[in-house]
Amino acid sequence: MTNKKSRVLSGIQPSGDLHIGNYLGALKQWVDHQKEFDAFYCVVDLHAITVPHDPAELCAKTREVAALYLAAGLELEHATVFVQSHVRAHTELAWLLNCITSLGWLYRMTQFKDKSAKYGADDAIFAGLLNYPVLQAADILLYQAEFVPVGEDQRQHIELTRDIAIRFNNTFGETFTLPEVMNPPQGAKIMGLDTPGAKMSKSTDSQLHAVYLLDTPDVIMKKFKRAVTDSFGEIRFSDDPERAGVNNLLTIYQAFTSKSKADIEAEFEGKGYGALKTQVGETVVESLKPLQQRYHELTGDQGYIDQVLAQGAEKAALVADKTLADARERMGFLPSKHT
Ligand code: TRP
Repeated sequence: MTNKKSRVLSGIQPSGDLHIGNYLGALKQWVDHQKEFDAFYCVVDLHAITVPHDPAELCAKTREVAALYLAAGLELEHATVFVQSHVRAHTELAWLLNCITSLGWLYRMTQFKDKSAKYGADDAIFAGLLNYPVLQAADILLYQAEFVPVGEDQRQHIELTRDIAIRFNNTFGETFTLPEVMNPPQGAKIMGLDTPGAKMSKSTDSQLHAVYLLDTPDVIMKKFKRAVTDSFGEIRFSDDPERAGVNNLLTIYQAFTSKSKADIEAEFEGKGYGALKTQVGETVVESLKPLQQRYHELTGDQGYIDQVLAQGAEKAALVADKTLADARERMGFLPSKHT
């Protein structure tokens, strides 16, 4: 019997600040399940330049997101943590895959449709935005990942990755493992505090939308106190869109405390929304404390994160370079004598 662990890969873009939706929907799941998998987690900086970006901010955020991966609890003996652009194979495989990816497949991607609509005219939409999912496919296929822990909004990109892999395998011979979406066991979907009808987002101008992982206790409390609720005055889980605000607060509370829905509803029986907001806010403040403390320790030591990332890139490149070499060979590139 073999007990080889399944390979997983995922990544978060270093654009905007990470919030509790990213934490509960992704990061916490990675941490909770890290021992079960052979995991690769990257900071996908190359994806962050598909829309206009600020160079200084890209650099700072890349380190910040990597530090947050570790602060959240990823352990280096279970997970390889690295920066996408540090492993050159990603961009090279992306080019190879671009040449077997149909434009029709890319135009159909909802994320492309949404983002390109936001940027308006064709002249303001760069080719990188369209090709974004091909780079994502390269990220996944280079590591022969069997599972990709991502939210529902990324399912289409994983399906595209499979289509690209199938086309490559059929054309040039079996090379890539077909990945599957790994649905987090109870990965909570967190909505915006001021927009309970829409998922919590990183790109927003509103001060009351998202609770960021590095927010101070005061800011966190303020955001919860001003969270949108309703006028029903009832504290219970519900999928009624009109009760989405209260449901979201309860979902956040449940995700951080791991209590059952029934216990939570009993706890708030007869209480008002003010008490609910205070309790959820305090719970989030307390839950984030260890992560924030660890973040400050890790980043206080100048150079530590960069060193972790250098080791991560080295480990990642061992796997990625081998897959890339196979893909190059199958596609018929003349082997280079220059390494
Ligand atoms: N597109 C993903 C997102 O927006 C980020 C991403 C890039 C990713 N490459 C990946 C996720 C590879 C999983 C695997 O969330």
